[in-house]
Amino acid sequence: MKSMVTYSKEMTTGIKGGNKVKKFSLSLALAMALMLTIGVSVALAAPGDYPPGTQTTSDKYTTTLDSTMGDTDSTSWGLTNGLGNANKTGEGTDVNDGSTLDDVIKNVPGQRTHGEYENDTNSCASCHQTHTASGKKLLFKNGVYNTCTACHDGTLGFYNVFEASNAGTFGGDPANGASVHMATGSMTVAAAPGGDRDSTDTNSWGADFTCASCHAPHGSYSDRLLHYNPNNIGATAPTDASGNPTGGKKIMNATVTKGADGHYTAADADGNAVSGPWLYGYTYGKPKVYWSQIRVKDPATGTFTHKYFDDPTQSWNDVLHVNYRGGYFTDDEGVLAGIADADIQIDVAPATVVKMSQSDLNIPAAQALGLPVTQIDGYEKGISAFCAACHTDYNSNSAQTETGTFSKAFRHKIVQGLKTGMVGEPDAYGNQNATMICLSCHFAHGTDNSLMKDARDVQGASTDVNASSALKRYTNMAVCWKCHVDSKATQLKNNDAIWDKKDAGTAPIY
Ligand code: HEC
Ligand code: HEC
Ligand code: HEC
Ligand code: HEC
Ligand code: HEC
Ligand code: HEC
Repeated sequence: MKSMVTYSKEMTTGIKGGNKVKKFSLSLALAMALMLTIGVSVALAAPGDYPPGTQTTSDKYTTTLDSTMGDTDSTSWGLTNGLGNANKTGEGTDVNDGSTLDDVIKNVPGQRTHGEYENDTNSCASCHQTHTASGKKLLFKNGVYNTCTACHDGTLGFYNVFEASNAGTFGGDPANGASVHMATGSMTVAAAPGGDRDSTDTNSWGADFTCASCHAPHGSYSDRLLHYNPNNIGATAPTDASGNPTGGKKIMNATVTKGADGHYTAADADGNAVSGPWLYGYTYGKPKVYWSQIRVKDPATGTFTHKYFDDPTQSWNDVLHVNYRGGYFTDDEGVLAGIADADIQIDVAPATVVKMSQSDLNIPAAQALGLPVTQIDGYEKGISAFCAACHTDYNSNSAQTETGTFSKAFRHKIVQGLKTGMVGEPDAYGNQNATMICLSCHFAHGTDNSLMKDARDVQGASTDVNASSALKRYTNMAVCWKCHVDSKATQLKNNDAIWDKKDAGTAPIY
């Protein structure tokens, strides 16, 4: 089975083919040759290829993901290079065998692994090795996926992404209709349907698609460490040099106003205040150009410049005090004295923020180490915009007309009026689970037949018949039938409707 799995991986088409080839050994080539000789036919067709674009992989339809499946950064060794360090990071024999937490967690007791780092932190050692790392970015395992799954495969005793959770599962059974977000690093973000499938920009669409495309391992403004800048969407201008839409969210040339409290705040072209958090980030060089960049009008040239007048090797962001989290800046040194608000402007790169409601999970081993472990009870805001950072065209909020930046189509409106048992965000009146979100119909990680429900919320009762089960919470198109028994349903009711395996003939029972 293992060689079958790897074989189908070899068949990955499209992207990143060049560096892939190196990873496959001679023995594998022999195994392939053997399989071909004995007539094992492997479909080259890729069920998940949604045109336009060519990026596709077939392994997600044939592979049960586990913690040994990720792409690696180095071809010189396997997941680890066997070198130790002072912290003994990843050295224990227990790493990956699903047994002990304290073998992988190198934190100061009571401190977190992800974020909220304190002055005496040792948390970095849970993932990084200074001189002896196995992977790029000094990771203790070779590859981002391999690093994350070294802990999130059951080793911790919680947050095992290969078991069913509110996020679905990466460990679904391909023989049982599994589909997953293929976050192993074998594809790029450009593979996302509804995104810019032809782009190779390595800062966004062209970047490897891994767990860290969606999660920020060092912490975030969002719950579940959801990335503050997925697909670099916040730091991307809304149009490119030719004026074509990019899907980017950056607010260009915002106007600035100084308030009585000394806070300079920003407003977009429509006069709406641009609240925080703003993204901090810059391009190298002197002076630095920041993602959220302040510019001031140069009286000599009449143009706005990011270079500080008195020292052009510095940027205005360096001499002003920008409160990125709060979404304002102050002029503590008085460098803006005598400059009118109208002569100041700022590009604001907004952070992506996703909020969920959570409650504590009682995991004694985690509690003993002071680690916060929670379950998600509901969604508060921002998840559809998060998904749309990569699936740009799919977030059709208002129009039922043709929409899309990268591909035109008619798309289902994201509506209110969810049915009992469905998950969603609150509506304007604060009713929970009222407004549709991507996760009303999809899981974030993956699914299989055992997780999916039918229109009557019976779990695991039927089989998804499609080429891909598309990370769905409901089998086949059952989610449509769940709602359209009363919303926009005249045409469906005047029909031989089978609801709960009974010929209804009347309105369905709730
Ligand atoms: C839970 C694992 C984990 C912990 C703990 C962790 N990191 Fe990281 N770090 C990562 C991963 C994964 C990446 C690569 C992220 C990516 O590819 O987007 C990374 C990347 C980095 C980078 C490179 C960023 C870049 O843009 O190239 C730096 C610097 C860094 N980490 C520093 C730290 C420091 C300092 C600490 C401790 C305060 C720390 N990390 C703790 C997982 C971790
Ligand atoms: C060394 C073990 C370890 C590694 C490696 C690791 N994690 Fe974690 N992860 C933890 C622990 C422990 C927690 C519990 C919360 C905490 O300590 O911050 C956690 C929590 C999480 C959570 C839930 C956070 C929340 O507050 O809801 C997510 C999401 C997560 N990890 C994703 C990742 C991703 C993505 C990677 C790879 C970049 C990764 N983890 C790598 C140990 C690890
Ligand atoms: C960082 C980019 C990114 C984000 C954010 C993202 N996706 Fe994806 N998604 C991808 C890529 C790349 C693919 C194509 C590769 C694959 O199927 O894994 C994909 C594929 C999919 C598919 C098709 C799966 C299949 O089997 O054909 C669905 C459904 C999906 N995503 C839903 C979502 C939902 C729901 C969210 C929000 C929770 C989301 N995505 C957020 C990048 C992203
Ligand atoms: C397409 C974006 C996306 C990718 C890729 C992704 N995650 Fe997640 N992850 C999410 C979202 C969204 C949630 C919260 C979902 C919910 O609770 O409904 C989540 C939840 C989690 C949790 C919380 C516990 C749980 O299982 O519910 C952990 C841990 C986690 N992810 C780890 C990982 C690891 C490890 C990887 C890579 C193997 C990964 N994630 C890849 C979006 C993603
Ligand atoms: C009303 C339920 C529903 C909602 C809400 C929903 N989807 Fe889907 N999605 C589906 C179904 C059903 C399929 C598969 C059947 C099909 O293609 O029509 C699917 C398929 C997909 C696919 C695979 C490519 C394709 O079009 O077939 C992607 C990617 C995807 N959805 C992303 C998203 C994102 C991103 C959001 C939020 C902006 C979202 N979906 C919201 C039901 C939904
Ligand atoms: C949460 C309940 C809900 C779900 C789930 C749902 N719909 Fe809808 N749908 C609605 C509502 C409400 C409208 C009417 C929207 C409006 O006119 O404002 C609608 C409108 C429509 C329309 C008419 C669109 C138009 O342009 O006038 C079609 C067709 C449709 N849905 C098909 C589907 C399909 C196919 C699915 C499964 C992927 C689905 N619906 C899932 C609630 C739902």
